[in-house]
Amino acid sequence: MRETDRAVIVTGAAQGLGLACAERFLAEGDRVFMVDVKEEALLAAAKRLGARAVAHVADLSTLGAEGAAGIVAACVDAFGRVDVLINNAGIIVQADFLDFPEDGFDQTIAVNLKAPFLMGQAAGRQMKAQGEGGAIINMSSVNAELAIPNTVAYACSKGGMKQLTAVMAIGLIPHGIRVNAIGPGTIMTDMVRQSVMQSDAARRTILSRTPAGRCGEPSEIASVAAFLAGPDASYMVGQTIYPDGGRMVLNYTVPVPD
Ligand SMILES: NC(=O)c1ccc[n+]([C@@H]2O[C@H](COP(=O)([O-])OP(=O)(O)OC[C@H]3O[C@@H](n4cnc5c(N)ncnc54)[C@H](O)[C@@H]3O)[C@@H](O)[C@H]2O)c1
Repeated sequence: MRETDRAVIVTGAAQGLGLACAERFLAEGDRVFMVDVKEEALLAAAKRLGARAVAHVADLSTLGAEGAAGIVAACVDAFGRVDVLINNAGIIVQADFLDFPEDGFDQTIAVNLKAPFLMGQAAGRQMKAQGEGGAIINMSSVNAELAIPNTVAYACSKGGMKQLTAVMAIGLIPHGIRVNAIGPGTIMTDMVRQSVMQSDAARRTILSRTPAGRCGEPSEIASVAAFLAGPDASYMVGQTIYPDGGRMVLNYTVPVPD
C-alpha cells in the first residue's frame, strides 16, 4: 500500500484519541478525513489542523450500510481514495449490572461495534477496488479482555471488536488490506476524565492497576496507530496491541504514592 500522502478516515476525530491520530497522520504527510457527531468541536479541530484535514459530521449510532458507504464516498470525493480507516469513535455507559439500561446497551453496541463493522465493509470495498491494499485499525480497549462490573456493554463491545478484528483481518488480507486493533489502558481523554477518573479514590484504583505509575497520553496511542498503518507493520494481521502501562500483565495491584 501507499506509504505517503495516504487518505485516512478517522472516526471520533473531534477530540481525544481520534484527534491525536488525526494530528499524527497529518504529521506523517497524510490527509485526514475526520468524522464525528460533535459538529462544533469537529469543525474547530479540522480548521485548526489546516487544509489537509476535512471534517465530516455523522452520527455513527444510526449509521446503516448506506450511511457507511456515504462516509467512504465523501472521503473519495475529498481525497480521491481511502488508504487507512481508523475505527476510533466509542462511548461508555456506566451502571451496575442489574440496573444497566437496555437502550444504553444498544447504543454502545451500535457505536462501538456495529459502526466499525459497517465502516470496515465500506472502506474495505473501496480499498479492494483501488487494488493497492490498505490498513484498518480498530480502537479496542483492555476491556476486550478485562472486566469492570458497571460497564457491561462497553466490555461486550470491545470483546466483540477483538473478533471483528480477527475476522475482518482474515477476510481482507487476500486484498492486501491489513486489519489490526489497539487496546489502550487508561489514557487521559474526556472519556476517562468524565467516567473512571472522577475522584481521588478512582485515580488511586486505576494507578494501583497501572505499573507504569501514570495514565497514558493520547499521542502514545496515535504512535501505535501510525506503526500499524505503516510498512513496519507489514506482517501484522488480526492482532490487538495493548499500550496499557503494564496493566494486562499485572496480577493483583501495585502501590500508589499519595
Ligand atoms: N481514553 C481511554 O483511556 C481509552 C481506553 C481504551 C479504549 N479507548 C477507546 O478509544 C476510543 C476513543 O476514546 P476517547 O478516550 O478519545 O473518547 P472521547 O469521548 O474523548 O472521544 C470519543 C469521540 O467519539 C465521538 N463519538 C461518540 N459517539 C459518536 C457517534 N455516535 N458518532 C460519531 N462520533 C461519535 C465523540 O463525539 C468524541 O469526539 C474509544 O473507542 C474508546 O473506547 C479509550
